[in-house]
Amino acid sequence: MSNISSQSNIKSIAILGGTGDLGGGLARRWSRAGYKILIGSRTADKGKLAAEGLLQEFPELNVTGHENLEAASNADLVVLTVPFAHQISTLSTVKPALKGKILIDVTVPLIPPKVGTVQLPKSGSAAQAAQEFVGDEVAVVSAFQNVGAQHLNEDHDIVCDVLVTGDKRVARDTVIRLIEDLGLKGWHAGPLANSVATEALTSVLITINRHHKINGSGIVITGQSASN
Ligand SMILES: NC(=O)c1ccc[n+]([C@@H]2O[C@H](COP(=O)([O-])OP(=O)(O)OC[C@H]3O[C@@H](n4cnc5c(N)ncnc54)[C@H](OP(=O)(O)O)[C@@H]3O)[C@@H](O)[C@H]2O)c1
Repeated sequence: MSNISSQSNIKSIAILGGTGDLGGGLARRWSRAGYKILIGSRTADKGKLAAEGLLQEFPELNVTGHENLEAASNADLVVLTVPFAHQISTLSTVKPALKGKILIDVTVPLIPPKVGTVQLPKSGSAAQAAQEFVGDEVAVVSAFQNVGAQHLNEDHDIVCDVLVTGDKRVARDTVIRLIEDLGLKGWHAGPLANSVATEALTSVLITINRHHKINGSGIVITGQSASN
């Protein structure tokens, strides 16, 4: 049964780099929530293989594999899930297909080997660099930096909230609804400039994972709603 919110005008989602850990987890969970998922890859064959893997497990899903540009061109919304080092080069291959769409950027600017140390780019954040590169006709929304891919790929409830930043309120609202369809809580975390905080927090979580031997630490926002 579909969990897609009746308010959502997003029916299909392209996940660029959806053959990897984070993108694969999002593909798994959003397809099971009822979305049509287009798994993007640098090579169509690799994308198709990833789609077949999901379909073997869940034959009823609507999942297909494509080369990144084809996936982005044929979806209502696009998600970028590739390593920081390849963020802008991947965007350059799909830029014309993003016009008028929401782009969810999950990138964390990790620079190995010191991934436990915050190393933000000169542009401020990876998400700001993406917005600058794709231009104003694309609404970049930054999310998922603090959710471990292993949780998305396992079929258990996830104890982690998602901080959502972006300069266009309607786009942020849309992404928060998509996050709710994954069974997660999404929070309005302000303009895209605030993505410096969500991206930086990942290195803090990586350090906590290592020091305290935790498999995928995350964050939960606490506090009482004023209506309570
Ligand atoms: N892993 C996590 O727990 C986690 C959590 C939060 C955020 N993130 C962020 O999510 C993004 C993806 O992380 P991940 O762990 O899923 O990465 P990953 O599995 O290492 O790679 C994801 C995909 O990126 C593509 N890719 C690899 N090398 C590339 C290159 N040279 N040029 C273009 N594309 C390339 C590959 O797809 P194809 O070979 O099919 O093209 C690959 O399957 C990163 O920005 C990361 O910071 C990850």
